[in-house]
Parts: sequence; C-alpha cells; structure tokens
Amino acid sequence: MRGYTLLDTARTPDGVELSLCERGPELVIRAHGIDLMSNRMHGSEAQMAALARCPREGARVLVGGLGMGYTARAALDLLPAGGSVTVCELVPAVVDWNRVRLGHLAGHPLRDPRLSLVVGDVAALLRDTPGAWDSILLDVDNGPRAFTEEANAKLYASGGLGVTLRALRGGGAVAYWSAFEDREFARRLARAGFRAEEHKVRARGVNRGPWHWVYVGRG
Ligand SMILES: C[S@@+](CC[C@H](N)C(=O)[O-])C[C@H]1O[C@@H](n2cnc3c(N)ncnc32)[C@H](O)[C@@H]1O
Repeated sequence: MRGYTLLDTARTPDGVELSLCERGPELVIRAHGIDLMSNRMHGSEAQMAALARCPREGARVLVGGLGMGYTARAALDLLPAGGSVTVCELVPAVVDWNRVRLGHLAGHPLRDPRLSLVVGDVAALLRDTPGAWDSILLDVDNGPRAFTEEANAKLYASGGLGVTLRALRGGGAVAYWSAFEDREFARRLARAGFRAEEHKVRARGVNRGPWHWVYVGRG
C-alpha cells in the first residue's frame, strides 16, 4: 500500500476486504491488494454501456457493480426516452462512499431520478428478473473470473450465462468488462446461446491508456 492513504475499509459478504484509498489526486477502490477501480482510468467502463446500448424507447438497463459510478453515468447519458437504469451493488459501504466521497467523479449518478439502486448480489437479481432487461452491464470483477467474491464465479459459468440470457428481453445484450483477453469466455458465451463479440478498447478516451476488453453477448 506504498503511496496510498487509507480512507476506509469494508467487507464483502464473503469476508473480502475492500479498501478506499487516496494517492495524490487519485481515488482507488482496492481488493486483494489490487486496484479494482480508480478515477485515473474509466474509458472502458463507459464504453461497455455504448457497446450494449439498446435504442428502444423505455429501455431498461441493469448495471452490476456501482464502483465509482462511471458505467452508471454512461448508461444514463445514453438512455433513450422513458428509459431507466437499475444499479445493483453488493457492498453497502460502496454506496455510502459514492454518496459521501466519490459521487462527483461521475456527476452524481445516484442523484438521477431515472436511476434506482438495489443493494445485493446481481446474480440473485438476474435470477429473479427473467425477461426484464434490454441491456445488462456487468463489471463486478477484474474480468469474467471471480475476483471480488468467490461466489461471483457462477456469473461466468454456463449456468449463470443461461440465467443472464433469460434475464434479457428479446434483442437485448449483456456486456462484461475485462482487464484481460479471455477467448475461452467468448466461446462459452456462444455455447450458452449468445451471439458473442470481443471488443478491445482503450482505458482512456479513444486512443490512450492500456487495453481492456469488453465481451458482449447478444440474446
Ligand atoms: C470494478 S468495480 C465497478 C466499476 C464500475 N464499472 C465503475 O464504472 O466505476 C466492481 C464493483 O462491483 C461490486 N460487486 C462485486 N460483486 C458483486 C455482485 N455479486 N453483485 C453486485 N455488485 C458486486 C463491487 O463491490 C464493486 O463496487
């Protein structure tokens, strides 16, 4: 943690410690000693909202993982008329951090009347909402492998992919953020019944920063 000032800590239901840290102008949410989200790079978090956007009036968007709110902000900015965004966040303290310290980073998405918040596990919400969503934006780990929580592994296994496919309305799409290339995950998406796409996107703007990957599954 050299160079970081610890601002607060919280635990996930599995007992993993999340920490909110400051390093100069940078704010970072860390897990397992690794940066989970930082305000230094958030281009790909916004791009995933564009890649899975549904232009339908009244579109319903689900964002899994609030983090620092960049994906939620992009989903709101791209929302068609009459649409709504539901953000599902596992850790209540992350919501508090957004209300108190982080909200300004992405223009206070939690204050937007088109957004509603669910505190809980996005895997459970997906299971309980068949046919509900036009776009599902999942950024709860470092990629399509459990990282924040062991329990998240089910989201990326074939059973979880089937649940996610069923949670989409016809013509909808799901996007998964990843810090690494994972061709096997793209094949798994296809085997689960999605039209799978791999997008390599820059972390900062159009052509700056390291590469990230967004896996899109169209229902
Ligand atoms: C990498 S951050 C998300 C970053 C976000 N895309 C942004 O733009 O700032 C991951 C977030 O997912 C949350 N999370 C992890 N597992 C989750 C789950 N099963 N359900 C809902 N949220 C989860 C973490 O607490 C964390 O806030």
